[in-house]
Amino acid sequence: METRLVPPIVHELATPDAVYVELGVQEGFTFDLVCPLVRQAIAVDCCPGHYDMSKLPSNAQFFACSTDDFWSQWSGKADVFFIDACHEFEHVRRDFEGALSRLNQHGVILLHDTDPLQPLIDNGPCGDAYKIVDYIRQNHPELQIVNLPADSCGLAIVRRNELRSRSES
Ligand SMILES: C[S@@+](CC[C@H](N)C(=O)[O-])C[C@H]1O[C@@H](n2cnc3c(N)ncnc32)[C@H](O)[C@@H]1O
Repeated sequence: METRLVPPIVHELATPDAVYVELGVQEGFTFDLVCPLVRQAIAVDCCPGHYDMSKLPSNAQFFACSTDDFWSQWSGKADVFFIDACHEFEHVRRDFEGALSRLNQHGVILLHDTDPLQPLIDNGPCGDAYKIVDYIRQNHPELQIVNLPADSCGLAIVRRNELRSRSES
């Protein structure tokens, strides 16, 4: 699965003070590219053997656990979340709500596998993660979402809709 778009997006949207959290890191293809762009980087993966810990940069921390366990252990806030762990909708939904509750005001949530090239079937490599797009549109009117047909899997970008928040306050 290609996720080459994530580093340039983080580069554009995050400041050098940013805290980045990646859920599902595997060998660290994306994580290693983003680490030098941010102040602090946090990796979460339930199969840490995929990642060579000897190359973990000094600004990074690795949580070797499921994302559900991560949400119950970690109480920090972040500016950019990249959700790319379990691709089952219900799991993605929990990861999304966890990220939203810990997102700084001007932060961004990136979600992978939201526009798979393959027909939209639930047992492909992207699972049924694509259902998160409709879920966010229906349940979170306070958010803006753009779903890009990036690579073979798709990438969604979510942030707070500040115009709407301002007009409602
Ligand atoms: C598609 S790969 C991640 C690719 C990575 N984001 C990148 O850009 O190179 C998915 C990773 O999520 C991890 N994973 C799957 N389910 C998980 C869960 N429930 N909690 C934590 N990690 C999980 C897998 O071990 C795997 O390493």
